[in-house]
Amino acid sequence: MININENNKNIDEFNLLYDSVGWGSYDENISKKALENTFYSVSVYDDDKIIGYGRLIGDTICFMYIHDIMVMPEYQSKKIGTMIMNKLLEKIEELKKENPDIRVYLGASKGRESFYEQFGFVRRIDADLGYGMILKGK
Ligand SMILES: CC(C)(COP(=O)(O)OP(=O)(O)OC[C@H]1O[C@@H](n2cnc3c(N)ncnc32)[C@H](O)[C@@H]1OP(=O)(O)O)[C@@H](O)C(=O)NCCC(=O)NCCS
Repeated sequence: MININENNKNIDEFNLLYDSVGWGSYDENISKKALENTFYSVSVYDDDKIIGYGRLIGDTICFMYIHDIMVMPEYQSKKIGTMIMNKLLEKIEELKKENPDIRVYLGASKGRESFYEQFGFVRRIDADLGYGMILKGK
């Protein structure tokens, strides 16, 4: 049976999912700190098996970021990702009571934009919303 758990900080499950979607996995200490500092997260299980995850990070009043939306390959296209996004956006609605103008960002992998567009996200292609930029690593 599919069930949802909020704010689970299980490092192994997080790393397992990361690996399953082809993103590799973080060092355990990095995952631990990342999860500790996560404002809100949703883990999805098939019985007790982890199959999906998504999280919110940010200051809870001006800027929030949606990150790490992951669904195990064998469970993709079954609306699990939709379930995760809806839960995260419910939490954003709660935050909006304090600041209706809170900005919610995400970085879509190439080709995934249409998944997010159905939830109201738009592509930032002009300066009005701020160009999408990132500090380049080595
Ligand atoms: C992208 C992802 C989170 C979507 O989750 P999902 O459970 O497979 O998606 P859903 O079943 O909820 O899809 C709902 C709708 O979103 C759209 N959609 C789903 N996967 C998509 C994808 N990979 N790219 C673009 N649109 C997609 C489709 O319109 C779909 O509706 P349909 O099934 O009626 O065609 C999931 O495929 C995944 O984890 N992929 C690997 C990791 C990843 O890329 N994460 C996103 C990083 S930005």
